[in-house]
Amino acid sequence: MRFHILPTAADIHEQVADQFCKLLSEQPFSKLGLATGSTPIGIYTSLVRRFRAGEVSFRNATSFNLDEYVGISEDHPESYHSYMDSKLFQHIDLAPGSSYLPNGNATDLQEECSRYDNLLRDAGRIDLQLVGIGHNGHIGFNEPGRSLRSGTHLVKLDESTRQANARFFDRIEDVPTQALTMGMDTILKARTVLLVVTGADKAATVHRALTGPIETECPASLLQLHPDLHVYMDVEAGLHFT
Ligand code: F6R
Repeated sequence: MRFHILPTAADIHEQVADQFCKLLSEQPFSKLGLATGSTPIGIYTSLVRRFRAGEVSFRNATSFNLDEYVGISEDHPESYHSYMDSKLFQHIDLAPGSSYLPNGNATDLQEECSRYDNLLRDAGRIDLQLVGIGHNGHIGFNEPGRSLRSGTHLVKLDESTRQANARFFDRIEDVPTQALTMGMDTILKARTVLLVVTGADKAATVHRALTGPIETECPASLLQLHPDLHVYMDVEAGLHFT
C-alpha cells in the first residue's frame, strides 16, 4: 500500500491523471476501470485538458465502469452513462464501443450481470482501477453487510448511500434504490488500484478501512489485500495518517 497525502484535491487530480497518462503512453491498449461520483470529476477534467493538449490518447484503450443505477434511463442527467459521457467520453478519442457500463435498464438484470462479467473476463484484468469510497466504506456499490459478492450483481442501496447521493437529485425520492455494481473480486484483480479520498468527512472512514480489520462491514477494507494499492488523500482526508 502506498500513501500519497497531498495538500489539495487539485494536486490529487493532477497526480492521478499523470498515472493514467503514463500507463496509456506505455501501454496504449490498456483496460481502464473508471468510477463516478464527485471525487473523480477533477481527474476527468485534467485528462480532457491533457487530451486536448495532445498529451494523451485513449484511441486504443477500453474502459469499464464500476456501477450504474437501476431504474433511471441512460439519458437521465444523473445516470452514470450520462456522467461519463459529459465528464469524459464525449471529450476524448476513446473508440466508439470501447467504453462499458452495466445496463441498469436491462429487462433481465441477472443476465445483464453475467453479460458484464463475461465482457470483463474476455477483456482480461483491468490495468488501472480508479475507486472512491463511500462514507459507509462502500467501494463501487458493494455495500457493507454480512457477505460480499465476487462478480457483478444487483444491490439494494444503503439508505446512507441514497442520502449521500441525494445532492445530485431534486428529491430524495428520486434517488434510485438499486444499482448494478462490479463485485469485489473484479476490483481486487485489477493490476493497480488507485483509491482517491478527499475531505475531512471521509477521514475516519478511510482510516478504518485501511488500518482496521478486514471485514465485509467495511468493503473498502478488502483493499488492504491488494498488492498494488495507491491511496491518494488530501490532508483533510489523511488527517489520521499523519
Ligand atoms: C462511484 C462509486 C462510489 C463512489 C463513492 C464516493 O462509481 O462507485 O463508490 O466512489 O460513493 O462518492 P463521492 O466521490 O461522490 O463521494
